Formats: sequence, structure tokens, C-alpha cells
Amino acid sequence: MKKLTIKNQLFPRPFLKWAGGKNQLLKEFKKRLPLHIVRYKRVYKYVEPFLGGGAMFFFLKRNFEVKESFLFDINPDLIMAYKVIQNNQKELLDHLEDIESRHLKMNEKNRKKHYYLIRTIYNQQMKNFDYDNPGEEWVERTSYFIFLNKTCYNGLFRLNKKGEFNVPYGKYDNPKIYNKENIIQINKALRDTEIFQGDFTESEYFIDEKTLVYLDPPYRPLSNTSNFTNYAKNGFSDSNQLILAKFFFKMDKKGAYLILSNSDPKNKNPDDKFFDDLYKNYIIERIPAKRNINRDRLKRGQINELIIRNFK
Ligand SMILES: C[S@@+](CC[C@H](N)C(=O)[O-])C[C@H]1O[C@@H](n2cnc3c(N)ncnc32)[C@H](O)[C@@H]1O
Repeated sequence: MKKLTIKNQLFPRPFLKWAGGKNQLLKEFKKRLPLHIVRYKRVYKYVEPFLGGGAMFFFLKRNFEVKESFLFDINPDLIMAYKVIQNNQKELLDHLEDIESRHLKMNEKNRKKHYYLIRTIYNQQMKNFDYDNPGEEWVERTSYFIFLNKTCYNGLFRLNKKGEFNVPYGKYDNPKIYNKENIIQINKALRDTEIFQGDFTESEYFIDEKTLVYLDPPYRPLSNTSNFTNYAKNGFSDSNQLILAKFFFKMDKKGAYLILSNSDPKNKNPDDKFFDDLYKNYIIERIPAKRNINRDRLKRGQINELIIRNFK
């Protein structure tokens, strides 16, 4: 059998920096894919209910024939960006080229002003933005979204309680806002794909016994102060984790191939058996992973990630 390799340099790959992005765990997922997928290099149906930056989706697209995919996320701007790449790739590339070349020509002081100007426009737009009807505004807003993501501090997309994007400027020497070839390849990858803004439970309808499902919900916070689960206005609480577990059990009964990842609460408290209890009937593994979204350098370092599966 031909050996699979992680082709990190190839496209399509994530076009956003996303908290909890799974690029570094791909090697581990690769080892754990269902055998028939590895053998025939084919995924009949793929569902990803917590899409984010889409590291796993793009990995599968780079390495396998993926017949059809159904992608979900609750974040309306994120989903709009995917839909714009799917349907208005050329217009988006024009906008991105324009915003990037303007930005790179500026000195540091003006770049900072430019960042805050775009952030203000972006937050004003948010108040009565029409997410239901695609149009020129979608393309423009998506270019702002990608720009802010690539120039903000730590590359974080974080909203405050009012739903505003409030991350400060990130001071990069030569920020690369986008990669043209990647956007073109993502556009191709999205041709056999349906994309939905909504709660993960809405993906149920698309899941059957042929489906590979990768579930990567927002992390259970590692410490009381870390609040990186706030990708959307409403975080993901333990009661959401319980609803997700029920969803997992139901999809397991349907016969789907399920892979779920999460932070390991034992990193913080060795006695915390939240996920061990919840998923006791399934395969639970602990994989070392580096989380570098934490600002406090001392808190960065080796921690475990959980990978839970319902198949061998
Ligand atoms: C850990 S991130 C996924 C990261 C992704 N695997 C990657 O590689 O970038 C979790 C995602 O779940 C989304 N999310 C939060 N609550 C959700 C919900 N109830 N239904 C669907 N998506 C949700 C967030 O917007 C976020 O993009």
C-alpha cells in the first residue's frame, strides 16, 4: 500500500488562524482513520459539525477522494467566508489583493490606523448585516474578516459580550493576508460541499452509516481565566458538552464513524473524569499536544489532547 504523507506544503489548507486549529494533530488523526478509508483513499461522506479553520477537512481533501461533505459552524462570519470562497472566489481575490497591497505599502503607524479603521467598519456592519442574502457586502466583509484575522494580535477571532470583534492590533513585519493559490484550491475543494451556519445538531440529517464525522467542539477551558471558547457570543458550557455526548451516542447508533477531540481536563485537575465518564463506552486516548494560544508563556507547554472514537 502506498504510504500516506502529510503534505503540509500543499493546498488546500486553512485560510484563517483559528483558536483550536488542528493542524498539529493531523498525524494522530491519520493513524486513527477507518481502515477502508486509508485502504481505498476514499471518503464517501464527510460531516464536520464544528468546522472552524477546517484543518481536518482540508487534510482529507489533500489526501483522499472525498465524494461529498457537509460542513457546519455556528459562527456566521466564518460560514459566510467559506461560502464567498465557494461562490465569489474571483471577486474576493480582487478585494484581498487591494486590501493587502494598500496595507503593506503603509508605515507601521499607518498600518495600525488602517487595522483599527477596518475593525470599526467591521463592527458597525455587524449591527444589521444581512447574512441571509449573498451579495457584494458578503465579499467585502469577508475580505475584512480575513484581513483582521491575519493582522490582529495572536491571530485570534474573539468576540466580546456585545458581539463585537475586540482583538487589538498585532504588529507583524510583513503580514501575509492570503495565498491566492490556496483560495483557488479551496474553491475547488468546496465544489462537492454543502456549508451551513447553525448548531452542530443540525448536521444529524446528513449522517448515516457511510459517514465519517469529525467533532471538534470548543475546548472546556483549561483554567478559570482562559476564555478561548468564545468564538461566538455564547460559549460552550458543560451542558452543551452533555448535549454533544448524546448526539455522539445517537450518531453511533446510526453506524457512523465518529472521531471527537477535546482538551483533557486532567491537564488542570488529575481527578477530573468528565470526558472519561461521559464516553466510557468508547475508545479514549490522550495525545500530547502543544497549545500556544495562551498569552502567559509559563502556561504554554506540554498538555494532552483527548481523541475519542467509536471504532477500532
Ligand atoms: C475548536 S474550534 C474547531 C477548530 C477546527 N477543528 C480547526 O481545525 O480549526 C470549535 C468551533 O466550533 C464552533 N461552535 C461553537 N459552538 C457551536 C455550536 N453549538 N454548533 C456548531 N459550531 C459551534 C466555533 O465557532 C468554532 O469554530
